[in-house]
Amino acid sequence: MKILFATPECAPWVKTGGLGDVSGALPAALAALGHDVRVLLPAYRGMRVSGELGDGVDLPARGPWPAAQLLPVKADNGVTLLLLAAPSLYQRAGGPYVDAGGADYHDNVLRFGFLGRIAALLGTPASPLGDWRADIVHANDWPCGLAPLYLRQARELAPRQPMAASVMTIHNMAFQGTFAMDNADRLGIPGIWRGIDGVEFWGQLSMLKAGLQFADAITTVSPTYAREIQTPAFGVGLDGVLRARSAHLTGILNGIDTAAWNPASDVQLLHHFSAGDLAAKARNKAGLQAQLGLAAAPQAPLFGVVSRLTSQKGIDLVLQNLDAVLAGGGQLAVLGLGDPALQAALRDAAARAPRQVHVTLGFNEQLAHRIEAGADCFLMPSRFEPCGLNQMYSQAYGTPPLVNATGGLVDSVVDADDDPKGGTGFVMRSADAAGFAEALGRVRQAWQDPARWRRIQANGMARPFGWDASARRYLEVYAQAMAAAAEPVA
Ligand code: ADP
Ligand code: GLC
Repeated sequence: MKILFATPECAPWVKTGGLGDVSGALPAALAALGHDVRVLLPAYRGMRVSGELGDGVDLPARGPWPAAQLLPVKADNGVTLLLLAAPSLYQRAGGPYVDAGGADYHDNVLRFGFLGRIAALLGTPASPLGDWRADIVHANDWPCGLAPLYLRQARELAPRQPMAASVMTIHNMAFQGTFAMDNADRLGIPGIWRGIDGVEFWGQLSMLKAGLQFADAITTVSPTYAREIQTPAFGVGLDGVLRARSAHLTGILNGIDTAAWNPASDVQLLHHFSAGDLAAKARNKAGLQAQLGLAAAPQAPLFGVVSRLTSQKGIDLVLQNLDAVLAGGGQLAVLGLGDPALQAALRDAAARAPRQVHVTLGFNEQLAHRIEAGADCFLMPSRFEPCGLNQMYSQAYGTPPLVNATGGLVDSVVDADDDPKGGTGFVMRSADAAGFAEALGRVRQAWQDPARWRRIQANGMARPFGWDASARRYLEVYAQAMAAAAEPVA
């Protein structure tokens, strides 16, 4: 099968969160199952991809769209990239979505409209790659949301031509890509699709809604989140759309890239370790404490956080329970970036107890790995969590997580009190400060019992979090999407 995986970010070249990790790993897992996978990604400024460069293909300017190039690169890690080089859209100081000051780029509607358009084009007979036309266009999150719409449009204009089927994956309902409806003309969205059954969302144009309405199949990144987003509490205004399409909505838990996230071979770690050699994990803890200026205290539990600092992640629940976290010499190491108020509160906490609390405000891949490896317990009390990768990394690294009972956290963490034999972490019983406190109390109880703690660690480290099983589920969904696309439009 020829699969086009369209995404706004892809590790290790450009990453702001879990979507980058997924885009770096899932295509490789699909390729390992024998499929021809290409990853369409904007060529952002400063991105260094080394690999085998193919011939670039010119994309002529048309209407609002600038002249651009598609650059095929077989990257050194085996992933085949199609870099979308449109310097006027993507060569900017700042991140993929926001400028250096943290504000959304004013022309995101065009930057990502273009990404959706080229993704769709690669699934039509007019594919700029000529002999390569995708069977599946897999669109990820709102930045690719117009791809299913454009593909449907192409299919309706030329019903007898071969066209790709489309799959829309929701990584986070909180980000929807809404823009003024008067962009619809330049985006070429037909009038009949501008209403409530099309892209309209409270008078605006929603790229995520476009994807949800027009994709042949929809997935999201855990079975629990797939159920949650069909309710008003988690649907962020689109739960009705999702309920209407529930027959075509599947939750598939993310995997982890076991080449990048394996404590026995992780290049970012000071000391490699495994379930059979936890002494080396203790040396990572000591190294982390030294690196971060924390007291050298092997017996004190070291709690780790690596996170975007947004209300989603529930970091405020950690701050509300800070005294309990730090009781008896407990330590907290935080790596994160985001909301200024949370950053300030964390900085204050570190200033008050520098030997117990360390906060790094920034994006630092190496420190992320070292916290996963050096901490004793990982804190992830998210209010909602489509999947979450850190709780899986932490289990693989012998760092039992404390998580809230939501989304992918439910699907990937087994509570050690509910299941004394097979438990891998601690799941909150209510999504509030009291629930965090209660779970933290249970963490501390287990920590007092080293044999029990080791069992919880070993259970987590033994879990098969790789991508293989999930990649096979995606192939099933691709087949369903192709069958749905072949049905005549009502
Ligand atoms: P989300 O995608 O909602 O941010 P995930 O848990 O799925 O949450 O993925 C987050 C990814 O981003 C993980 O790989 C995590 O290690 C990484 N990450 C988050 N914040 C930072 C940071 N400040 N520095 C380095 N890595 C980070
Ligand atoms: C989003 C979600 C996160 C998920 C990631 C990758 O950023 O917030 O839960 O793991 O996407 O799918």
